[in-house]
Amino acid sequence: MLLKQAATQIAPLTGLTPEEVLRLLEVPPQEEMGDVAFPCFTLAKSLRKAPVVIAGEIAVALQTEGMDATAAGPYVNIRFDRNVLAPQLLEELGSETFGKLQLGQGARVVIDMSSPNIAKPFGIGHLRSTVIGAALYRLYNEAGYTSVSVNHLGDWGTQFGKQITAYKRWGNEETLQADPIRNSLELYVRFHDEAEKDPSLETEAREWFRKLEQGDEEAQRLWTFFVNVSMQEFNRMYERLNVDFDHTLGESFYNDKMGAVVEELRAKGLLEESDGALVVRLDEENMPPCLIIKKDGTTIYPTRDLATAIYRHDVMQADKLLYVVGGEQKLHFRQVFTVLSKMGYDWADHCEHIPFGLMRFEGRKMSTRRGKVVFLQEVLDEAVARALQIIQEKNPNLEQAEQVAEAVGVGAIIFGDLRNNRMNDIDFSLEDAVSFEGETGPYVQYTHARIQSVLAKAANVSHDEQEMDLDTNGSIAESTEASAEVGETHLEKDRMNNLPVAIIGDTSWALLKLLSDYPSYLEKAVLRNEPSVIAKYTIDVAQAFNRFYHAERIADAPSGVKAFRVKLAEHTAKRLAYNLSLLGVRAPERM
Ligand code: ARG
Repeated sequence: MLLKQAATQIAPLTGLTPEEVLRLLEVPPQEEMGDVAFPCFTLAKSLRKAPVVIAGEIAVALQTEGMDATAAGPYVNIRFDRNVLAPQLLEELGSETFGKLQLGQGARVVIDMSSPNIAKPFGIGHLRSTVIGAALYRLYNEAGYTSVSVNHLGDWGTQFGKQITAYKRWGNEETLQADPIRNSLELYVRFHDEAEKDPSLETEAREWFRKLEQGDEEAQRLWTFFVNVSMQEFNRMYERLNVDFDHTLGESFYNDKMGAVVEELRAKGLLEESDGALVVRLDEENMPPCLIIKKDGTTIYPTRDLATAIYRHDVMQADKLLYVVGGEQKLHFRQVFTVLSKMGYDWADHCEHIPFGLMRFEGRKMSTRRGKVVFLQEVLDEAVARALQIIQEKNPNLEQAEQVAEAVGVGAIIFGDLRNNRMNDIDFSLEDAVSFEGETGPYVQYTHARIQSVLAKAANVSHDEQEMDLDTNGSIAESTEASAEVGETHLEKDRMNNLPVAIIGDTSWALLKLLSDYPSYLEKAVLRNEPSVIAKYTIDVAQAFNRFYHAERIADAPSGVKAFRVKLAEHTAKRLAYNLSLLGVRAPERM
């Protein structure tokens, strides 16, 4: 809001639009330099003057009420009058539309996320896809899009031929039912070991998959059983991660839709034979051919993705198609999108692969084939156990410590992922992620809980001032409500009196400005498909609050300023809790 205010005033002096000015504005590196800085370098050409001269002229022209501008070399440094602006900013934070954007104008964005493979472990890549996808889903909604999430289960492909072969030889229903993923994985590993010695297993597996594609009764029955037991396990995970999907449509859903795609490719003259297989050549695009039908007549991953994209566009009415899938599938998506555009679909431009880097847990990597696997369930359990230990040390009397530990442990994993630029490879340390200090989820949660207790204390002190018989045992929720009421009355008074300078301290002013700036971070996060922008911002807010908390009194502040500080703390708590929820992390009231 401060930036907008500055931009509208600067724009007419420069020949730029307010939006252009907004993009140039900077937050100065040091507090003494003011609240906003406008660099004049880029104007030198159009105005035919030296940047220093331009800065001087703008500074002189900018002297309006509540704003003080000085030239510093090629920059105009602007300082706002805290007393004039603070009440306005606070009021704006309280408005219902604050923090909602209209970037999307209701456009539908279909987000392909999570998409684990049946009969295989839910991998770390799938975890990343799930948490990044779920965050984008919510961020897009905040930005005025209509988000639709799809879990594109890997429930089809030659691996099911292998799975059936292995199951029929070495598996049984009870073992699989008891621990589906582990047992499937064992079967899968065994298949690969034995197939090295006996290649006929591969032939058998291909035969089973062919049967499956042709609707063979036994193959179908076994496949359905694998899907069901895997889904039960995945759903437990989704529950803990607080994620659900608008659609769960696996690759198998497109079985009856691929024939039409293949025909269309043929009719459009795109299909070529190569070594007995059918491909779309992508020589001009400098890519290897996109495989459509394999030698043995079966379809393959790209074929299913072509049918999927067309379905999402035509039936789900997607305006934008996002695929939150690891960076190792970059070529695959470039091929698929290119084939779509060769088919004449101009909406292929609206398809976007949202890649992310690898994640290791304490140096251990995922590897399905060798069977050395980090099971996500175990990682979550370990994080929760660590969280419980810290909580019991810090706050041995906490009620419902187990629930809080679940929120903190799982939140630590989600936040520990999302705070990284998504393309970064992460070496995940549980100890760091669960720590209550540093740039972690628990740190943000802890700050949020701290504010709740500050607010409760503030409310009790106010009650004290007003009525003698106060209920010290009142729950936090009630107390917060009371403080909001009291806060309101005080604020009115403050506003009328106009707050004296000393009252809005540097740390509260810095916090207030940061809270007001939230929409620009949301915009950045959505434009870059980067939830880390919000995670980092949320850490900044928590840190700004803690600086404020250490430097200025809140609950026992002098009455003239207390309402302002309490209100500021309330808005901070709301922002922290809300942003955590956007990222999929819960914010316990006490910790
Ligand atoms: N199941 C795939 C895998 O685990 C990811 C699917 C991604 N989505 C898609 N439309 N291809 O590698």
